[in-house]
Amino acid sequence: MSLKTAMGVFLCAVLGLATTPASAKDKAGHFVIGMSQCNLNEPWRIQMNTDIKTAADKHKDKLTVVYKDAQADSLRQRSHVEEFLIAGVDLIIISPFEAVPLTEPIAKAYKAGVPVIVLDRRVMGDQYTQFIGADNKKIGRFAGKWIAETLGGKGKAIELKGMMTSVPAQDRNSGFREGIKGAKVEILFDVDYNWMEENARKEMESALSRFPKIDLVYAHNDPGAHGAYLAAKAAGREKEMKFVGIDGLPHEGMAYVKQGILAASFQYPTGGDVAIEEALKILAGQKEPKEITLGSRIYTAQNIDKGGEPLN
Ligand code: FRU
Repeated sequence: MSLKTAMGVFLCAVLGLATTPASAKDKAGHFVIGMSQCNLNEPWRIQMNTDIKTAADKHKDKLTVVYKDAQADSLRQRSHVEEFLIAGVDLIIISPFEAVPLTEPIAKAYKAGVPVIVLDRRVMGDQYTQFIGADNKKIGRFAGKWIAETLGGKGKAIELKGMMTSVPAQDRNSGFREGIKGAKVEILFDVDYNWMEENARKEMESALSRFPKIDLVYAHNDPGAHGAYLAAKAAGREKEMKFVGIDGLPHEGMAYVKQGILAASFQYPTGGDVAIEEALKILAGQKEPKEITLGSRIYTAQNIDKGGEPLN
């Protein structure tokens, strides 16, 4: 065992990666992927890790995935990247909490020659190997158009914004504003809720006390739309308005649409399976595209039973 490998084994143990070989290249053909998830306290992110695990389990002979949870803390997630580098992983998959704080460590890993796949939330610039995610601007624009149409061209709406230091929220906001352009949709109130259902519920409680008439709530994810619905229901006003969200997980957004809680949900695929397929190709030395854009679907009461419709 070389000094570098010995150091790696020691650091792996210290950093809680005890079962991870210091350098996967030591074992012929076996690779170690470090996966940094920004927050495992949300259904969609649990689904992403499950999708990664399901895909990786098909390649157990070739891959080991080491998972870390940043618990909604950019500083902790920056450390993940450092720890993965010290441990000598062969590739990093990261779903960043916020764009700016994660840009530098990701660029550092990339420049050090460790391939980095950025999943779902973008960082700044282009110092990473590949970005995989759906087109949030397009989803926002479709949501805006659908909302304007559903309201008959006019109405009073509330926008609950995911977390404006993350790119999906910025794009879901700007796309939505583009989508409603030309219609008389008045935004009564917009606020950040950090993607969390309980925050959305609280924000909605204050909106309900301020505005006597609300026609629709557009939230940047389904937990947000559901939180708003719960607040409206507690105030006896849920029938007065419609709720629209994004994610469209089968057991969450799609179920809410079936139950009539949400008027629409837009699918936001996790990309976990694609990330593993791409990781295998990158590790095999193939040149892969810098960007992979995942598709999306809209689910409404009208189309949910036939699996929604794609956004074209
Ligand atoms: C989970 C989540 C999803 C959302 C995605 C955007 O953290 O908030 O609900 O679609 O992140 O990055």
